[in-house]
Amino acid sequence: WPDGTHVSGSDLVIGGVPATRLAAQFGTPCQVLDEMTVRRRAQAFTAALPDAEVVFAGKSLPCPEVYRWMASLGLSLDVSSAGELALARAAGFPASRIVLHGNVKTGEDLKAALEYGVSRIVVDSFDEIAQLGALARHGQHVMIRVTPGVDAHTHAAIATGVEDQKFGFSLASGAALEAVLRVVEQPSLRLVGLHCHIGSQVRHVASYEEAVRRMVGLIASCGVRIEQLDLGGGFCAPYLPGEPSFDLFGFAQRVRGTLNYECRLHRVPVPRVLVEPGRAIVANAGVTLYRVCAVKRGVSRTFVAVDGGMSDNPRPALYGAQYVVRLVGRGGKLHPVTVVGRHCEAGDVLAENVPLPADVHAGDVLAVPATGAYHHALASNYNQVGRPPVVAVADGTARPIVRRETEEDLLRRYA
Ligand code: LLP
Repeated sequence: WPDGTHVSGSDLVIGGVPATRLAAQFGTPCQVLDEMTVRRRAQAFTAALPDAEVVFAGKSLPCPEVYRWMASLGLSLDVSSAGELALARAAGFPASRIVLHGNVKTGEDLKAALEYGVSRIVVDSFDEIAQLGALARHGQHVMIRVTPGVDAHTHAAIATGVEDQKFGFSLASGAALEAVLRVVEQPSLRLVGLHCHIGSQVRHVASYEEAVRRMVGLIASCGVRIEQLDLGGGFCAPYLPGEPSFDLFGFAQRVRGTLNYECRLHRVPVPRVLVEPGRAIVANAGVTLYRVCAVKRGVSRTFVAVDGGMSDNPRPALYGAQYVVRLVGRGGKLHPVTVVGRHCEAGDVLAENVPLPADVHAGDVLAVPATGAYHHALASNYNQVGRPPVVAVADGTARPIVRRETEEDLLRRYA
């Protein structure tokens, strides 16, 4: 739950605003975002890592207003398409603090980034090095994405550091070293750093330390001065009670120690560290509100069907993600139910076996926490259901920072 969320009567108060009021005023489904929680988590990173550049992973919550908060707190921004860059431009995010990512960057992505003057482009293939080399003017700063072969022990769909996958240049195969040479050969590019991202929802600091060891080994063997070492994002956030938050201070100390040690050992200057947190900043700031539309007693389960589902939260279907669900506005003796969505698929299940009051009924409001990261970002309009708004709450006031998608929005694209 967002910081400061509390129960008053039987209502849930988020950012000083009762959830029942938010549901009534903005409709459901509604993604509520507690601004202070976002700001505090962002500041936790800059405070724990004062010498590092903290880059918000814009894909986790693409929204100009959120990008503005990050800009004002001194964070940088990572974008992975011309579309995310367009949001950053709309936010007035300084180009000098934008990093462009992606294993595929189309010509349009690269041109948009060069035109806005983003400070660094992280190259991910030999094709891209050649294409960017031809498009760029003299001295475009570049980082190389390396696959360091570190297993971050996370879901296979979001484990991006292991060998044999689509991201980056493999360290083990020598492709990473070859990429360094190719970038250096391009007169229009200047190599400033190396990047790796070992995965998402990573719990162990040791995985990052291993990445540091391997990356410094590469820095030592490549024979080129590397000023920046970007360790990517992936810092875990808790979704269920009892799950740990990421040990940010442990990370700061151990990664700094390992980096200094390895650089001394290999006799290379210590590069400036970058980190790219997304989830750890925004996940726990978000709460999604749904309205119950139907309750059905199945043979062995009770299904509680709500007015959203896999279009606003595909994470259970994609990653087997689990969520807490809470009835707002009323208490009662709990019994286990399955919360399902409105979409035309049996797999449209939001949460299995969650305790809700036995008399849960149509019209009730349900609140699902930990929905700030990769929810708005992954939402679709499957079944032509408009995507929900994002409503920012702070100090007892609420304002939409993304409005609900309307039928007009949906119709606009069709011939
Ligand atoms: N940097 C790079 C290059 C990335 O690809 C990502 C996430 C991040 C940073 C931020 O990772 P974070 O700190 O948020 O874990 N849709 C999935 C997550 C996909 C992550 C994609 N890349 C989910 O809902 O769990």
